[in-house]
Amino acid sequence: MQTPSGHPVESSSAQRLVVLASGGGSNLAALLAAHEGASYGARVVGVVSDRPTAGALDLARDAGVASAVVAMKDFDDRSAWNDGVLEAVSVFQPDYLILAGFMRILAPSVVRKFEGRMMNTHPALLPSFPGAHPVRDTLAHGVKITGCTVHLVDEGVDTGPIIAQAAVPVLDGDDEPALTERIKVAERALLVETVGRIAREGLYVAGRKASIGR
Ligand code: GAR
Repeated sequence: MQTPSGHPVESSSAQRLVVLASGGGSNLAALLAAHEGASYGARVVGVVSDRPTAGALDLARDAGVASAVVAMKDFDDRSAWNDGVLEAVSVFQPDYLILAGFMRILAPSVVRKFEGRMMNTHPALLPSFPGAHPVRDTLAHGVKITGCTVHLVDEGVDTGPIIAQAAVPVLDGDDEPALTERIKVAERALLVETVGRIAREGLYVAGRKASIGR
């Protein structure tokens, strides 16, 4: 993959972000707070969720951001659901897609459409602990340092080129909720900073090496 994607923005043209979220949306909330700043360089123009009850949808409504629900149960099969996601997202004409707690795997056909422009935030230091239960797996393994990763989405599960990471120590006595919350504090800051820099400076990818700006 050799993709210069995104363009350094002029002050008047913020990059268009569409956020996909399945849950409470604390990462979305952080992006919504950041995009209020005129110099941030990006704006959340749409939120798409696979769960009609996702808190992220309430956050979008409260912020005056349009949203769409694409629930698996409303489609005949997974292929039709993926087409539905693609359609819902495309309506917003995104420059970038941000998966922020989106707990579904998208089909390669969707991933390819947004190659180099779709990012995921994951609560572990990839390539360690990919998948659906990274914090539980981290604690079970007994590692002492964990963290969070913003990476490009490719056709694998949490395997795309790494854009940015932040470390979080595992403390004696940590349980899954406590460690999850500490990681999420670091994760929100990392996501906001990384997305803003990509919007302002561009993202450049050569093989597994992703870098922001030239
Ligand atoms: C975040 O910690 C995100 O990294 C994780 O879900 C949480 C969503 O929190 N995503 C994954 O685990 C994906 N594999 P939020 O709804 O409060 O933003």
